[in-house]
Amino acid sequence: MKGIILAGGSGTRLHPLTLAVSKQLMPVYDKPMIYYPLATLLSAGIQEILIVTTAYDLPLFRKLLGNGSQLGCHFEFAVQDEPNGLAEAFLIGEAFIGNDKVALILGDNIFYGSGLAKLLQANNDPDGGIIYGYHVQDPQRYGVVEFNDRGEAISIEEKPKHPKSNFAVPGIYFYDNEVIEIARHIRPSQRGELEITDVNKAYLQKNKLKVSILDRGTAWLDTGTFSSLMQASQFVEVIEERQGLKIGAIEEVAYSMGYITKTQLHKLARPLLKSGYGAYLMRLN
Ligand code: G1P
Repeated sequence: MKGIILAGGSGTRLHPLTLAVSKQLMPVYDKPMIYYPLATLLSAGIQEILIVTTAYDLPLFRKLLGNGSQLGCHFEFAVQDEPNGLAEAFLIGEAFIGNDKVALILGDNIFYGSGLAKLLQANNDPDGGIIYGYHVQDPQRYGVVEFNDRGEAISIEEKPKHPKSNFAVPGIYFYDNEVIEIARHIRPSQRGELEITDVNKAYLQKNKLKVSILDRGTAWLDTGTFSSLMQASQFVEVIEERQGLKIGAIEEVAYSMGYITKTQLHKLARPLLKSGYGAYLMRLN
């Protein structure tokens, strides 16, 4: 299965922070934001990843992540010229996806929780689409999924004024290859975007959408405002300081997934020794 990280957009809600630097390169405590969704894809067993970003930011992402070989992976980069919506990622990434299945993760979505990697791994060979539902306080900011009594998804709406449930759809999605064809046929919404919600609705209509609940023991953090960006940093700091274990350390995930050897891990750690990050990687068994 291939993976796509969408790291485009103009980050207007974080101006002036993001006037010169992409939102997905902003720090979330001790790492650039994109490390977290990248670590999530790596932990799901996905090693071939396309990073979609703006032409302006692309060289910076390439500098940060390289071609992925240092992590036992393969990274490619592509440009989204305008913020035309999440579903455009499948059109931009069409050649990259080829005949494979594909996972999409948003470059500003942070997931953390025990059992999450196993859940994602179990879903990385979908027949149709697999998305998630997560209980939130403010569903009107998100795609919202409604369930019937049997726990089956019956509707999905994008940013509804009157949400039919409190279950938001987080920014990680798994699809079979048909997603390319579906994305090709949807039309821009009122906000002028190819909506991922319309892709999900198409799968739902075909009875080929599975919606799995991310339980309350999972953290899905938002980074869309100054305050939520700060809270995400604080969350990561609290857990890391308490446990002495890192969240979203891509080198650690690559090592624990068996993508790289301990020798390769140590090579990645050496230039990072001064910050303590490298020492952490060195300590891993
Ligand atoms: C997008 C999707 C929405 C989803 C959200 C998750 O919203 O359109 O369905 O719930 O990501 O972060 P946007 O970031 O475009 O507001």
